[in-house]
Amino acid sequence: MDKVRIIGGTPLKGEIRISGAKNAALKLMCASILSDHALILDNVPRLADIRTTAQLLDSLGIGVKFEAPEGEAGAQRLTLTAGSLNNTVADYDIVRKMRAGILVLGPLLAKYHKARVSLPGGCAIGTRPVDLHLKGLTQLGAEIELESGYIVAAAPQGLVGADVTFPFVSVGATENLMMAATLAKGRTQLFNAAREPEIVDLANCLIAMGAQITGAGTDRIVIEGVDALHAAQHTVMADRIETGTYAMAIAATRGDATLVGALPETLGAAIEAMQAAGVIIDAVPNGMRIRCGALVGTDVMTEPYPGFPTDLQAQMMALMTTAQGASMLTETIFENRFMHVPELSRMGANINLHGRSAMVRGVTRLTGAPVMATDLRASVALVIAGLVAQGETFVNRIYHLDRGYERLDLKLAACGAQIERMAG
Ligand code: UD1
Repeated sequence: MDKVRIIGGTPLKGEIRISGAKNAALKLMCASILSDHALILDNVPRLADIRTTAQLLDSLGIGVKFEAPEGEAGAQRLTLTAGSLNNTVADYDIVRKMRAGILVLGPLLAKYHKARVSLPGGCAIGTRPVDLHLKGLTQLGAEIELESGYIVAAAPQGLVGADVTFPFVSVGATENLMMAATLAKGRTQLFNAAREPEIVDLANCLIAMGAQITGAGTDRIVIEGVDALHAAQHTVMADRIETGTYAMAIAATRGDATLVGALPETLGAAIEAMQAAGVIIDAVPNGMRIRCGALVGTDVMTEPYPGFPTDLQAQMMALMTTAQGASMLTETIFENRFMHVPELSRMGANINLHGRSAMVRGVTRLTGAPVMATDLRASVALVIAGLVAQGETFVNRIYHLDRGYERLDLKLAACGAQIERMAG
């Protein structure tokens, strides 16, 4: 299995181009199911999760064409042409790799009035729930049963608009319902909807396809169903989590670099948290310049957007390991999202876990070590720690990084990091 070798201690200097957002692109791709016509997506990142979703759409019978435009390294154009599908089964072998596979359910039900979608991750519904997705679609008139690890859904007369109030905020459930409602009969209102920038990006794409949506980006989204959607082109927004990750990496190494194409207005509370920690952030014409003053311990609690994102919690913890003083990081979105703690501790960090909070006491230095993590953001937090640490760090199981970070080693190396990918 490939790994990354890092010799820490070099401040990051130069420019990093921010890629298209993985968490926007995955849903935009699923939106292609809703129309018979081509959906052209530009600025699609080259990532394993994008390839898995392309494979899933291909298995449904959608035409999938990737093209690499000249100039921008990485960014690619993806043309998805659904035509008329005759397969509405999303297979376990593909969906088990990626929870976002559940996002084909709403579009398939809306357009084809039926779907059979593997439960994501092969996990029981209680432990990795999709209950909000299923409850919401049921409110739009779908009949849903669970059968041999599959969600079997039907709406023989088509979906019908309804008022759906989510008991708590879910990004995926908001997106699934918003897509489904575009072709439902009449008006759907989503209350307590997620407000993440990726939802606004998806709504903008659906609107370009002919959907009638207002309120995306607020907690009340209103969708007036239409009979059909048409061809459209959409450019995927810049990745705010990648942006925050590199900002923290630059600050952690006490570097000075520009994140080209970054959208500071999409970072929500992450900007204030970094500033409170001593990171100097300047908006520049082509993105954001990141520098670091004296790093000081800062408390952070993850919350739905515009709160501090759970997807930056591990990276923030890596940043805080060498700050002066103590920081308390509290995770409120996901259970068990502290996999990076024992690994950071092995590199010399001083961290104590108390339930859903981690108390980090800053140390003067980390030391390199072989480490690994079992999820994407935890893995990249270990890369940040490796960039700061004295000596050699090996981050194993980098397939997690490949799921969400495009050319991570090359982007960091271009800013002076001593990092290389190694086979085996
Ligand atoms: C998306 C992001 C993920 C991010 C998360 C929160 C993608 C592909 N993934 O995940 O990177 O960390 O938002 O910002 O965009 N829940 C339920 N029942 C449901 C749905 C969710 O109980 O039906 C729970 C989840 O277990 C979690 C919380 O709600 O505790 C929030 O999850 P949700 O916002 O749905 O996350 P995802 O859309 O899966």
